[in-house]
Amino acid sequence: MTHQDLDPATMRKHYRSEILDEETLAEDPMGQFALWFRQTAASHLFEPNAMVVSTATADGRPSSRTVLLKQFDERGFVFFTNYASRKGREIAENPYVSLLFPWHPIARQVSVTGTAARIGRDETAAYFRSRPHGSQLGAWASAQSEVIDSRAELDRRYAELAERYPEGEQVPVPPEWGGLRVVPDAVEFWQGHENRLHDRLRYVREGGKWRVERLCP
Ligand SMILES: Cc1cc2nc3c(=O)[nH]c(=O)nc-3n(C[C@H](O)[C@H](O)[C@H](O)COP(=O)(O)O)c2cc1C
Repeated sequence: MTHQDLDPATMRKHYRSEILDEETLAEDPMGQFALWFRQTAASHLFEPNAMVVSTATADGRPSSRTVLLKQFDERGFVFFTNYASRKGREIAENPYVSLLFPWHPIARQVSVTGTAARIGRDETAAYFRSRPHGSQLGAWASAQSEVIDSRAELDRRYAELAERYPEGEQVPVPPEWGGLRVVPDAVEFWQGHENRLHDRLRYVREGGKWRVERLCP
């Protein structure tokens, strides 16, 4: 197989310079995230709320996957998933996670380290009810991360559920499904610049306060 016409070693982009400095940085990382998230959404980047969540087993074997950020506030970043999935099981045995927002088209990246914890069942229920009926059924139909014999088996489970809970009927919240909140202990904002002289500003939690440090690119 030849990649001569598509050699990743020759792929180079010149990043446009946007300001990221200590002067204009928000007091706390969630405030800065809110600002950048708004700008990212305004740039029409596809799914700006898509983020990579990395987890690890108790003995430190990592795994990553994309999920959608569904809520954020001063407490942290919330996504929804199946608690019995691989990521859910890994978080149950080791709460340390990282999040990565790969906003390549605007030469930005936000990376977070912290701990994940389940949100309240009432908060999960409120979000579950806001989802389309089909997604609610899908959450029941899929034993996420389990091996399944065939696509047909998945479709059969879904069809059964659709019969049991027709459109308009309230679907109960699956017991193994819910939100996880990542409470950050460090958040790094990366802004690409010319000549690889990128800006990297990292908030680090110290007691109840945030300290900001600049990292070499
Ligand atoms: C753009 C995108 C968004 C996704 N959003 C979610 C999500 O919000 N929740 C989720 O559980 N899985 C989501 N997935 C699927 C996950 O990447 C993953 O396949 C699934 O959660 C099972 O992961 P695990 O087996 O490592 O636990 C998304 C995938 C993509 C590509």
